Amino acid sequence: MDIRRASTGVKGLDERIGGGLPAPGVILVAGEPGTGKTTLCMQCLFRGARLGETGIYVTAISEPVDQIHRYMAGYSFYDRRLVEEGRVKFLDISEVLMKQGARKALDMTLSFIRRSDARRVVIDSITPFSYTFSAPQEYRRFLHEFFTVLKAMETLTLIVAEFSPEEARTSPESYMADGVIYLYLQRGETPTTFKPGLQVRKLKGTEHPKDILRLGFTRDGIRVLE
Ligand SMILES: Nc1ncnc2c1ncn2[C@@H]1O[C@H](COP(=O)(O)OP(=O)(O)O)[C@@H](O)[C@H]1O
Ligand SMILES: [Mg+2]
Repeated sequence: MDIRRASTGVKGLDERIGGGLPAPGVILVAGEPGTGKTTLCMQCLFRGARLGETGIYVTAISEPVDQIHRYMAGYSFYDRRLVEEGRVKFLDISEVLMKQGARKALDMTLSFIRRSDARRVVIDSITPFSYTFSAPQEYRRFLHEFFTVLKAMETLTLIVAEFSPEEARTSPESYMADGVIYLYLQRGETPTTFKPGLQVRKLKGTEHPKDILRLGFTRDGIRVLE
């Protein structure tokens, strides 16, 4: 079976990873707050939508969907028409997740994906799922199920994770994903300068750079510099 390459819409990234992210596949997009996880994922969804692939953005944190729209409307890739046409759909699972648990929230997500005939899915983020389990081994068992069902789908699925670099290195989510993209905000030359960066830590079936690539943030979203 040929691996399809899904263009991310991030300038400078696709050509470094063999044309795009391998699809179908489950990719972890991890990093600390403000490093660009949501931006990267949205950029990828709108890129897909422009190519005719229906995308779904699943929010698991209690952030009102219209607030997400307001923030994203600041980016040039955000196209309200694509949202109105249903090319980019939004699903809020935060309440179901908190009140009925992780499995119900996963079921709701899966049936929405199937009904929408989506090709790209973003789950932002996986972190609140972990809060619904009291025992770590139960969360691990759930994760196994979560990745197994998502990998069986025909979609490119981006899973956001609020991880420190250490967690990204050793967490079960990183082991289970087909790829791991880690976003940084790193100290620059002086103590007061910080630079955003992106590292492709793992990408199955792909020759890719291992170094941290410098990122630029503009109203066009993120791009890899040089
Ligand atoms: N319109 C914009 N133009 C340039 N940079 C922006 C714009 N909107 C947001 N940003 C940058 O993106 C950052 C937020 O990125 P986000 O994707 O929300 O991060 P995360 O999801 O990792 O917390 C902001 O802190 C800001 O630096
Ligand atoms: Mg975010």
